[in-house]
Amino acid sequence: MLSKENNDLITRVGPGTPMGTLIRSYWLPALLSSDLPQPDGDPLRIRLLGEDLVAFRDTNGTVGILGEHCAHRGVSLYFARNEACGLRCPYHGWKYDVNGKCVDMPNEQLDSKLPALVRQPAYPCAERGGLIWTYMGSAPEPPPLPEWEWLDLPADMKYLSLRVQECNWLQALEGEVDPSHGAILHGRVDGRGSGPDRLVSDTRPHIEVFESDVGVQIASRREAGDDYYWRINQFVLPFYTLVPPNGKDPYGAEPDINGHAWIPIDDEHTLCVMFSYNPTHKMTEKRRSLYDNGAHGREPGHMTANGALPFDPRKPYGKYWPKWNNANDYGFDRDAQRSKYFSGLAGLWPQDAGCQESMGAIADRSQEHLCAADVGIARVRRSLRSAVIGLSESGTLPPNVAQPRRSRLRSVGILLARGIPWRDGATEHMTAEGPMTYRMPEAKLAPVAN
Ligand code: FES
Ligand SMILES: [Fe+2]
Repeated sequence: MLSKENNDLITRVGPGTPMGTLIRSYWLPALLSSDLPQPDGDPLRIRLLGEDLVAFRDTNGTVGILGEHCAHRGVSLYFARNEACGLRCPYHGWKYDVNGKCVDMPNEQLDSKLPALVRQPAYPCAERGGLIWTYMGSAPEPPPLPEWEWLDLPADMKYLSLRVQECNWLQALEGEVDPSHGAILHGRVDGRGSGPDRLVSDTRPHIEVFESDVGVQIASRREAGDDYYWRINQFVLPFYTLVPPNGKDPYGAEPDINGHAWIPIDDEHTLCVMFSYNPTHKMTEKRRSLYDNGAHGREPGHMTANGALPFDPRKPYGKYWPKWNNANDYGFDRDAQRSKYFSGLAGLWPQDAGCQESMGAIADRSQEHLCAADVGIARVRRSLRSAVIGLSESGTLPPNVAQPRRSRLRSVGILLARGIPWRDGATEHMTAEGPMTYRMPEAKLAPVAN
């Protein structure tokens, strides 16, 4: 449980808020590179940390992210002409380059000094690993770019997807540091299901946590014959989570690590950037097809093209609003709940999104009753609160801002002999180096979209 004051401190992200300021210290994933496929193509509306923005790719192929409203008199630059290395406002033709510099002012006298003085809000951008990143912080120079291992992998070794969730970023994130919900919410009542047996059947894992200066490790332990099966999820400041691999499936597909960046669009909307990869193996076509299309008409962890509403350019992230949403109870099916799926919600991410959005746009954490299984969530909140207070009271940033390699971690799902503490047995495998060679349980079935 959290007081309203502490809840506001770690959930609110608008301009000037302590949490918004912390998040602005990091590079943020803003779009897929493929969302802006060609030079001088259509600009897109986006919104980050409560600010309306327009993203575009200029004539040289360079990406720019500008404040949406023209510095002259506030017209939306979504209507701009994207031409000759800049966005030109349709109202009076003022034109801005990717740096926000006003490079033309066709309604102003030729000897005017105004063009040199006008600046459109603009945020530095970079492309890395198939994503467009932006830096919205106040440091004169942005920090080094992120170093996640999946950024370096070629496209055939990973899968990226975007989805908008209509609730606060932290309650979406908390779903991925919550090891006890998986076997329940994503479980089935018809005896099918995927993943290692113990994961499917054991709803009461023993959970331990370890807090570092860049995040929290959440280790859940289940019985596995002579061994324990430990699954270690990672929370990495400010908004990343990694979920452990589930073991090789019976068709021989290598296990993949999944995770998310939960980027606040504003206090009540989240851009969920999901990534899946194996560090040393190509993704099989079967798995890629599952992520592209779902299975049996149901959604997997990634939102499929069929899971999205038609592109609505009027909304920020207009390609990524889900078809399964509050307006249709996330495809909730009472018959399916009785006969097949524990929840009756329309697939993997709709189960998470449906539960998390139903908590309210910003969950009132003063009314909760946390149990032992929520220890990871409690620790993640504490980690965020410490980071916010460290920055607001002493100007200290977490070390993974200046040293992004500190974030270069893996989640781990490992079988360990009972006497071995998980920190002793699993820590070396959290380093993002080489193949995942440790002992994992066999997954029971091929991946299915629950
Ligand atoms: S409002 Fe944009 S040029 Fe006038
Ligand atoms: Fe989940």
